Amino acid sequence: MAEKFKAPRGTFDVLPEQAAQRERLFRSAREIFGRSGYRGIITPDFEDTALFERGVGKSTDIVRKEMFTFEDKGGRSLTLRPEGTAPICRAYVEHGMHKLPQPVKLAYQGPFFRHERPQAGRYRQFNQIGAEAIGSDSPMADVEVITLLSDLIEEMGVPGVELQIGSLGSLEARAAYLEELKSHLRSRSEELSDDVNERIEINPLRAFDSDHPGTKVVMADAPHLLDHLDPADTEHFEEVKQLLNAASVEFTIDPTLVRGLDYYTRTIFSFVCDRLGAQSEIGGGGRYDGLIAQLGGPDTPAVGWAAGVERILLALDEEVEIPGGDLFIAIESADQRAKAVALASELRHHGMVVELDLAGRSMKGQLKHADRINSRFVLTLSPGEPARLREMATNQQQEVQPSEVLEQIRRT
Ligand code: HAM
Repeated sequence: MAEKFKAPRGTFDVLPEQAAQRERLFRSAREIFGRSGYRGIITPDFEDTALFERGVGKSTDIVRKEMFTFEDKGGRSLTLRPEGTAPICRAYVEHGMHKLPQPVKLAYQGPFFRHERPQAGRYRQFNQIGAEAIGSDSPMADVEVITLLSDLIEEMGVPGVELQIGSLGSLEARAAYLEELKSHLRSRSEELSDDVNERIEINPLRAFDSDHPGTKVVMADAPHLLDHLDPADTEHFEEVKQLLNAASVEFTIDPTLVRGLDYYTRTIFSFVCDRLGAQSEIGGGGRYDGLIAQLGGPDTPAVGWAAGVERILLALDEEVEIPGGDLFIAIESADQRAKAVALASELRHHGMVVELDLAGRSMKGQLKHADRINSRFVLTLSPGEPARLREMATNQQQEVQPSEVLEQIRRT
């Protein structure tokens, strides 16, 4: 026998029994986005590698280790998108969206790719739902986007979720703090992990995210950025907190919160779920006031987030039962095929879920099949006999004219 294939490492198939819950999530997200005026955007699944190097940052894990990068036949370096914010900002600049009424409010969903070590909740191809509000520095924009994700989590009924927020301040104000943090790290470098040591100069904030025991001890004494914000950043953060309270969105403040992408400024946030083990972040994001300019656009403040579709579904950990169809049409012999096909087609056009036997089963086999697929009704067509409609739950059967089937089922 020929060798069988498996889905590549870190990828997965979504089977029909899992698709219903996923569809419910996408539907809820679409509704929630629509109610706040966020409109869909689709960008390509791959982009120029340089976009992510410049946008996400050369010192991040994503760019250093996790990108699926390849050369096309013209020798250009392309990368399967590891995240959606840099591509959306690229599109904003490319299409001159700064000329539109601001902010431009965008929502997206789709596949993303990171070459990470696979484990529960961490895949090499995964899906995100996300939202970006580009062109406003108001704390109201921060709170609007945070509320979108909080509403989505609530509407889906995801249990055990907590929102953590922090602020990274503006780029200029952060510079002085980073010097202080670097000298703290340098003074205790022998206790730090190699990875943190290597990045003291280029990305010292990541040390807060390390799970290396020695590093954790050093970070427990580290100065906090929240204590070093300048007055404008502090005021912005205070207002975000007040407005979250006004919107009845509960949160905790985490002075050590950092995120794995370089573009963040001011507000950052993370929704974590206690049902998920190590990969506990369901979704997160923040402000990225410098990114559009960094990608060649005008100075444009922005804020947004992305959530992991598979993590939300894992946290829900339930399958939605696929409802059976309305009607199965069973036929005694090939003579009734045309009649069955015509009737099925007509009823489907009326919105009814109708199935036919496509496997050449006997009448008995068809009835058994109708039961297995959970059809509510079966219509039997036999030559020289009246059509019979049977309700499967009650086993009640009656003679019907095929033209009355729609009416009969709707009445039941
Ligand atoms: P991120 O934190 O890298 O942010 O990813 C967002 C979410 O995607 C995570 O919270 C997680 O739920 C999910 N996720 C990330 N990596 C994986 C993986 N390997 N497997 C499964 N799920 C994963 C961003 O991507 C930013 N673009 C968010 C953003 C938008 N910031 C501002 N606007």
